Formats: sequence, structure tokens, C-alpha cells
Amino acid sequence: MLTDRPKYVLSIDQGTTSTRAMIFDHSGRKVIEASKPVKQAIPHNGWVETDPNEIWTSVLNVISSAFIDAGIHPEDIEGIGIVNQRETTLIWDKETGEPIYNAIGWQSKQTAALARKLKNDGYSGMIHKKTGLIIDSYFSATKVRWILDHIDGAQERAEKGELMFGTVDTWLVWKLSGGEYHVTDYSNASRTMLFNIHTLQWDDDILKLLNIPKAMLPEVKTSSELYGTTKNYQFYGIEVPIAGIAGDQSAALIGQLAFEPGMIKNTYGDGAFIMMNTGSKPEISDDNLLTTIAYNFNGKVTYALEGSIFAAGTALSWLADSLQLIDNVPESRQAAMNSEDDDEVYVVPAFNGLGAPYWEQDVRGAVFGLTRGTTKDDFVKATLQSIAYGTKDIIQTMEKDTSMHIPELMADGGASRNSYLMQFQADILNIPIQRAADENTTAFGAAILAGLAVGFWKDIDEIKSLQEPGRTFTPNMEDSRRQKLYRGWQAAVQATRGYRV
Ligand code: G3P
Repeated sequence: MLTDRPKYVLSIDQGTTSTRAMIFDHSGRKVIEASKPVKQAIPHNGWVETDPNEIWTSVLNVISSAFIDAGIHPEDIEGIGIVNQRETTLIWDKETGEPIYNAIGWQSKQTAALARKLKNDGYSGMIHKKTGLIIDSYFSATKVRWILDHIDGAQERAEKGELMFGTVDTWLVWKLSGGEYHVTDYSNASRTMLFNIHTLQWDDDILKLLNIPKAMLPEVKTSSELYGTTKNYQFYGIEVPIAGIAGDQSAALIGQLAFEPGMIKNTYGDGAFIMMNTGSKPEISDDNLLTTIAYNFNGKVTYALEGSIFAAGTALSWLADSLQLIDNVPESRQAAMNSEDDDEVYVVPAFNGLGAPYWEQDVRGAVFGLTRGTTKDDFVKATLQSIAYGTKDIIQTMEKDTSMHIPELMADGGASRNSYLMQFQADILNIPIQRAADENTTAFGAAILAGLAVGFWKDIDEIKSLQEPGRTFTPNMEDSRRQKLYRGWQAAVQATRGYRV
């Protein structure tokens, strides 16, 4: 009976503020999506933590909802792909499986002092050369050090091999497999600041510098292969292949089918993450972009240049939840359209510092250009525009670093649904924006990785034939206006950087 039923792949997308499960059929169509918010704790100003067990139960929750709502049996799943918020750091006990501390989120700032010390001690060049990254509390390395320093006996237990480190992908594979597999993939490893992106090994010099025992690190695998199967008691009594892993930004690049060097996407999620495929060669940026591993499958490593804006969707939620200027995030579109063009306000939402190309972890947000006539609509519009301006900062830097002209930008992620933002993005960049037909390219990327590994799809060509066209936003702004607006943004960012209490 069951053999006649249609088959599917299941994607688990574990993000900063929510966990989602999506099931894709053989035509690449998303059959169902289930989502659950994940709570974040802010124990101190600038710290962001999550309960690892809540992450896990949220995964169980969304998978069950997806099965129930779509009437799909777990036996119909041919493979599972996992994509995750990157850098977020977990450490747990190998025997009991109990985390020894909360997951420290990628935006969390409790290790800013340690990151600063590493910079002041002159390690920037060495770390950049080996990992492609800029020293920052964003990456996992200083977070691991922090947990080992702050939990009694942790260093000693880690040295004895009693503790395991993982990013969220590692934690989820470990949980799904009943504690059998301690693995990650190249894309996630390359965000830890512990992984040498040239030798493709954990880097002994950096491990020594930070006194992190190698015994606690996961085995690094490709992004698409059979890592193992679910343990039956963790997955509805059956064993299903776990066959794809990628950091969410890599998965979005894959989901956009951006397999050719020079292709570039922006995922407008909680943050905005711009990634350019640079092929088999790691391009080293002179201007503070990150060099990272995009993915590794079909026997070869593909590198990317990346720039991130830390607050994108987060800034829009702030407008709704904290400032209550709008009732909900989608309302930001209409509010922006109500705003008068000549009331130029600039919001620089550097809640957790500035990302690329500035990398200033101690800077905080600012607002410029307020007048007695400024309305809440102007404020909302300025916050939306900040995402587009920040994207332009990064795209310009990528063009300079690679000496390439970027002819178009592919867009996905929740905030890409906002057509005001997309049009303004096209206007301010002066290139077309290709918005994906379904903004969930991240989950589709995970499905592709798992689907290829288990033979659900034959090859990339088959997947390309499934892609649906999205919508194109064409630039429509006068040059003089574009330049004036962007000059205002640049002045606002410079002033924000200069402000210290
Ligand atoms: O680098 C952090 C990024 O992977 C988090 O993504 O979508 O959960 O905010 P998101």
C-alpha cells in the first residue's frame, strides 16, 4: 500500500526567531509549511540566548504539525535536510545530552571584550587568512571560550572528551539520531572562526590560541550526503535518512539555484545576508567582507563572499512590537507608501553593532533628520529604507573587491514580500531585483541537498527544470535623487559610528 503513495523530502529550517518544517514533493512544490516561534532570552543588555531544549521541541512540534495538517505519513519522507541559523553555539554533555548552558545566539554580545582583545593582540590577519572571517563576537569561537570559562569544570570536562560543541545543525542531527552522530557541514564549520577554509580542517593554531579542546568538535561533512538516519524513537518509530545540512544563507543560495560564480542573493530575514557565489576559489576581501564556504557537494567546495546587515526583519518587528508604530510588519509597506518623499529621515538600526563592511560591534543605533513634521510613516519608511541602503553598502563593496559589475540581485526571505522594499532596493541599487516565487528558498535549498543525496532528484538540471519564475522589480528613480538619498545615508552611518557615550 505505502509504496504507491507519493514521496517527499522534509526540510527543517531552524532560524533565530522561529523554527519551520516544510515538505516538498517531487515537482519541487511546497506541500505544507508549519512554523513555531522560538523564545529568546536577553539576560543582559546585548546578550541573546535560547534554551537548546526549546529549539529541539520546536522542531518536533513543527514536524508533527506538518504531517498532521498535510495528511502525510512519516514513512513517505525519503530524506531530511536541515538548515539553521549559523554561528549560534551550543555545548552539551556527551552522556546525558543535557546542554551545559543556553545556546548563545549569533547576535549575542557577551564575548565582545574577548573579540576586542584578540584584535588588539594582533590576531586579525592570522584569523582572516585562515578562516576568511573578521574577528567578531558574531562567530562561534569566542562563544565556546565564554561557556568553557563560565561554567564550573567545563574546561576540564571538555578536555576529557565529555562535552560536545555544535552549531544548531549539529545539535539537531545529534538529537534526531538519538545521540549517534556528531557532525556538521563545511558551510556551518566555516562560520565558527575555528575552521581553516583552505585546508578544510579545524585549525590547530586557533584552537590552541583559544584553548578549545579538539575532542569537543564535530566531524565536518559535505552538505549533501547520507550522514545517518533518525532513531526510530525520535522519529515516529522509523529510520529516515538525514541527508542535507547547510547554514541558512548557503541554503538560500542553493534554493535560488545560484550555482554559477558571480550569482548573488540577498535573504531579507531577521538580518539581511548578501552572498555571492565565487566558485572554487576563495576571494579574499580587502574591504571587510567575509570569505566563507557556500557549500560542498558533487565533490567540490564552492566559496562565497558575504556581507551581513544584522538588523533587517528585526528592525521591522521593533517598529511593530516595541515602538507600536504599526500593528504588524506587513503594514510597513502601506506606511512607507503614505510617507511624503521630501521628509527624509534616516534610521540606522545598529541594535547589535554594525556588520559589513563596517564591523563595529560597539556602535548602537541612531535616527537622523527628524523635524516637527516627521510622521510615524516617515519613520517606518526610513527603517525599511535602511535595509536597502545597507544592502547597497555591501553590493558596492563586492563590486570593488571582485572588480565585477553586479547586473542583478536575487531576493528571498520574509521581508522580500514587502514590495515597497523591493522597489526601493531596485531604485537605490539601480539594478533589477529578481524576487523568488516563494520566499522560502532556504528550506528549498535544504530539500535540494537532501533530495540529491537520496536520489529523490537525479541532478541539478532536473531541479532547474522545476524552478518557477518570480517577480522582477525594475529600477525607476532619477540618478540625482538616488545619489542624494544615498549620500544622506552615508552621512547618517558616519555620524552613528562617531557617536560614543
Ligand atoms: O548568520 C546568522 C544567520 O544564519 C541567521 O539567520 O534567518 O535565523 O536570522 P536567521
